[in-house]
Amino acid sequence: MAGPSSTKAGRDCPRCPRLVAFRQTWREREPAWFNAPVPSFGHVEARLLIVGLAPGLRGANRTGRPFTGDYAGDLLYATLKEYGFARGQFEARPDDSLELVDARITNAVRCVPPENKPTPLEINTCRDFLVPTIAEMPNLRAIVVLGRIAHESAVKALGIKRSAAAFGHGAKAAIGPLTLFSSYHCSRYNTNTGVLTTDMFRSVFAAVRAQLDGRV
Ligand code: URA
Repeated sequence: MAGPSSTKAGRDCPRCPRLVAFRQTWREREPAWFNAPVPSFGHVEARLLIVGLAPGLRGANRTGRPFTGDYAGDLLYATLKEYGFARGQFEARPDDSLELVDARITNAVRCVPPENKPTPLEINTCRDFLVPTIAEMPNLRAIVVLGRIAHESAVKALGIKRSAAAFGHGAKAAIGPLTLFSSYHCSRYNTNTGVLTTDMFRSVFAAVRAQLDGRV
C-alpha cells in the first residue's frame, strides 16, 4: 500500500471506502477499463503542473490518463498544444502520440467519484498524494488549478493561507518562486453554460506561457 509520503496511490488504494466501492462496481461492470487511481501524466522536471478535480467515469477512469476520453480533455489538450505545452496527436487514448512539454497533469482526487463529486474527506485524504506530487517537482514555477476544489486543495497542499490566493477565473497568486493560476474547470457543463469560453480558457495558458517565457 502506498503510504502518505508516496506520490503513487496503488491500484487498490483502500483509503476512501465510498470510492473503493464505486471502483469495485465499475471493475465488475467494465473489466477492460482502467478503474483505479489515475497517476499523474508528464515529467517531474516540468515547470508547469495542472491540477484537475478527479477522473471522469468514462474519461480518465476508463483510459487511465488524466483528461483522456472526455470533453474536458479535448479542450485542455487543444489549449496545451496551442501554447506549446503539448505536442503530437491527441486521440483520446493513452497510446496516442501526445506528449506533454514542460508540463504535468494531476488530479486533486485520483479515483473517480460518483457523480463527479468527491466529498471533503476524500479531497483531504487524497491530498496526501497531491502534496508529494508537488514536492517532487524541482523546477516547478507555475500551477494551474482547474476549478474551485482543485484550487482549495492546492492552496492547502502548498500550506498557504486561503486569503493569500483567492479563487477566480484568471486570478494569480505569487507564492515564493511559484505562481498559482486559477481557472474555471474546463468541463462540458461550464462550456455549455457559457461559464467558461474557449477564449477565457486560452487566456489562462497565454498568461502562464508569458510568465514562463519571462515576458511579464
Ligand atoms: N478528467 C480528469 O482527469 N480530471 C478532471 O478534472 C476532469 C476530467
